[in-house]
Amino acid sequence: MNTATPTLGAYRPAMHYACKDTWLNDPNGLVFHDGIYHLYYQNNPFGNVHNNMSWGHATSTDLVNWDEQPVAIPCDETEEIFSGSIVVDQDNTAGFGMSGTTPLVAVYTSAYKAGSAHEGMQAQSIAWSTDGGYTWTKYSGNPVLTRKSPEFRDPKVFRYEGPAGSYWVMAAVEAHDYAVLLYRSDDLKNWEYLSTFGPANGTGGIWECPDLFELPVDGDAGNTRWVLTVNMNPGGPNGGSAGQYFVGEFDGVTFTSGTTVTEGMQEPERVVDYHWLDWGRDYYAAVSFSNVPGGRRLMIGWMNNWQYANHIPTSPWRSPMSLVREVSLASVHGEPRLVQQPAPECTAGSVPGPARSLPLNGKVAVDGGTPVQLIEATFTAGTASEFGLVVRGAGNGSSGTRISIRPGTGQLMLDRTNSGDTGFHEAFPSISTAPLPARDGTYSLRIFVDHCSVEVFAQGGLVTLTELIFPDPSDTGITVFSTGGTAEASLQLTDLA
Ligand code: FRU
Repeated sequence: MNTATPTLGAYRPAMHYACKDTWLNDPNGLVFHDGIYHLYYQNNPFGNVHNNMSWGHATSTDLVNWDEQPVAIPCDETEEIFSGSIVVDQDNTAGFGMSGTTPLVAVYTSAYKAGSAHEGMQAQSIAWSTDGGYTWTKYSGNPVLTRKSPEFRDPKVFRYEGPAGSYWVMAAVEAHDYAVLLYRSDDLKNWEYLSTFGPANGTGGIWECPDLFELPVDGDAGNTRWVLTVNMNPGGPNGGSAGQYFVGEFDGVTFTSGTTVTEGMQEPERVVDYHWLDWGRDYYAAVSFSNVPGGRRLMIGWMNNWQYANHIPTSPWRSPMSLVREVSLASVHGEPRLVQQPAPECTAGSVPGPARSLPLNGKVAVDGGTPVQLIEATFTAGTASEFGLVVRGAGNGSSGTRISIRPGTGQLMLDRTNSGDTGFHEAFPSISTAPLPARDGTYSLRIFVDHCSVEVFAQGGLVTLTELIFPDPSDTGITVFSTGGTAEASLQLTDLA
């Protein structure tokens, strides 16, 4: 195991956003406006552990290169600024616009501090910006929605335009009730209760950071479904924080889903049956951008896990975001399922290396591994019980992050027990698994490697598995292997830095 200290700088990602020298957690207020993608996030402006929650801010024009901006909405003596969302108030429904400007309105959770008027409560508040999202003013009538609850948070607001009318809808959680509450408003200031969804499916931990959006099925604009995502901590399929999704219908009042189970606490063995946004341990609090042109649905997750988030060995910054994912719905055995791929911007301008065919019967070391890379591999099962790759290894396959497939049980596995520095928290060295059915007898993996992470997009993005790793910077080896027999692999490497 390596000691962390000499390699701290080396863990800083090239393609993922991380703060310069502070802490971040959930993505907040993701919005596209006037040609710029805005990424706000839970930020401690004064340190690199979770505290002093404020909204940090970064901007990008290409979804890959982000510029850190001054803190957008700082905490103060009365409240911390918990997670939320931003809408472009095109028609000035809230009245914050001035002539010639389109206001952005942030809807966030006020986590009230001891000694404040709403001490101990979490309620929803708003702030507005008329300079394109750089400076913000809190509304004097805050909070705009309270249930006098200590766990009511993470408002995601979107514009509903449908048979029921045209209005703002907010999804927020009552975290300990495993419930997503829906409200409507005409002016972002007055909110009327619509309905509650949950408990349902995964209820092993509290529910946080919901999102609700409509997507075409198989690209058919005439056949849409609504997707409700909700993050959960702990209780993920491989431990700790994770996100699940439900596909269903939203009629402007109520969200319904065929996958709903409403008896309350789940039996733990059911988790493999549910739909997870990501099966890895480091994709949490995922939410989508608003106002993206062309109907694209883009999401970002926080690449960390509350089990060990405050301990990961990076300094002075702590925690990266995931790559930006473009999500869609595709029919699988007649059922719409969420498909996720990194936004095409992540590979724009890169040149894939040569495709190689590798007959496997044991280990094959492959040249060309780098710390910032797309590794595309397709495997066809032979007689082997297991096959896959070791990435960010010492080169001989003896150490590194092991990503493998067991065709007999239909499982994808990611083993980071020997991935580098794993000793900073007992929950970190781990083996994660996900169900992975073959497609036409093959298994395809797109693996994005970036200094301190691996994001696996399997079978065209139907299964994703995202994890942090802290390898020695010089360990860039790739080994492809089969165990106990034969398999065929085809492999292509694309450098991304
Ligand atoms: C999720 C979360 C949110 C909350 C925020 C506080 O990671 O717990 O529910 O708004 O983080 O930082």
